Amino acid sequence: MRTYLVTGGAGFIGSNYIHYMFGKYGDDIKIINVDKLTYAGNPENLKDVEDRPNYTFVKADICDSEAISALFEKEDIQRVVHFAAESHVDRSIKNPDVFVKTNVLGTLTMLNAAKAAWELPDGSFKPDHKFLHVSTDEVYGSLDEDGGYFYETTPYDPHSPYSASKASSDFLVKAYMDTYKFPANITNCSNNYGPYQFPEKLIPLMINNALNGKKLPVYGDGKNVRDWLYVEDHCKGIDMVQEKGRLFETYNIGGHNEKQNIEIIHIILDQLREKLDDSDPRKALINEDLITYVADRKGHDRRYAIAPDKIKAEVGWYPETMFEEGIRKTIDWYFEHKEWMENITSGDYLKYYEEMYKA
Ligand code: NAD
Ligand code: DAU
Repeated sequence: MRTYLVTGGAGFIGSNYIHYMFGKYGDDIKIINVDKLTYAGNPENLKDVEDRPNYTFVKADICDSEAISALFEKEDIQRVVHFAAESHVDRSIKNPDVFVKTNVLGTLTMLNAAKAAWELPDGSFKPDHKFLHVSTDEVYGSLDEDGGYFYETTPYDPHSPYSASKASSDFLVKAYMDTYKFPANITNCSNNYGPYQFPEKLIPLMINNALNGKKLPVYGDGKNVRDWLYVEDHCKGIDMVQEKGRLFETYNIGGHNEKQNIEIIHIILDQLREKLDDSDPRKALINEDLITYVADRKGHDRRYAIAPDKIKAEVGWYPETMFEEGIRKTIDWYFEHKEWMENITSGDYLKYYEEMYKA
């Protein structure tokens, strides 16, 4: 039975990945999820799996080298899938320090612990032991509106403290691969959406605000473009890269689904109206008047777009979920999980929201 160490598994993509992996491999794998449970980590995301005998949750900080090394000493961990990070660009603009700590130093701690556990006396590594570093397309910077794509060969040009910290972590992984032949891969993915996403990010924030008749804050002119990928497709891509990709390689993962932010908001409004009964009092409140243009994000990248040619050619991965289907599934999920949203948006979230949007 193969053992996985997943970091940040209580967050958005990590929890989707754990669900995906148990759905695919069932009892043939064991997963240890190590998560600090920051504001973004939510044990409720894993309620369905917490009683499985082949699942263990460990509350720890990835910067805590003793705690992380102890996990490698206790178990023969064959796969590391490293999601844990501070992930929100707006928060990084207000408070960069924690991004450097978790994303850079935390990644270094993970690399050192895996290297110490897997390295053999002759400097080679235990066979079939692999580390996958989950990264972002934001490391490549910003594209012009009228063309171009991010390839694996695109030079790094990060702009926000978040993307600079992710770029630094990518370079550390690359350095370990180049220097020690440390068995790893990096994936750089575009914007994800789907169940369990924290409502500080565009799509769940707009769904939640609209359902509560709150303003929909659009940064700048609303024409910034993101390349949206349904989260389950990302999880599948990560697994395929780890099992079928060439070691030491980077793979870009993206949806070929570019949309302006304002288009996304119109789609959400249309779908919410369609979904609500005529008798529902919220229906009348959900309209274009909620859209409110606010000050632009500082250093706001204009456009991201991934060319997923390499992962398609080498690994056979392609985005399976069309946006229309993915956004419908996402909205359905938020409708069915009202309590999840209510639990999250009470307490600290309110404070964050008020300060961020001066609401
Ligand atoms: P998230 O913010 O939803 O979750 C992050 C998780 O990491 C949380 O569970 C949090 O508790 C945990 N964590 C944070 N600091 C930690 C620490 N010091 N020690 C242990 N755990 C810690 O993030 P997400 O959106 O799920 O993103 C996961 C990864 O994927 C990140 O590395 C991110 O850079 C990358 N990524 C995200 C997207 C996206 O669209 N969300 C796209 C591409 C890549
Ligand atoms: O590209 C991958 C990245 O996608 C990941 O690495 C990050 O972890 C993830 O947070 C995401 O970053 P973005 O900054 O692109 O996502 P966000 O949802 O914060 O914003 C998407 C777009 O929507 C962006 O152009 C800013 C805009 N926006 C966002 C919010 C929260 C608004 O106009 N209003 C808002 O209130």
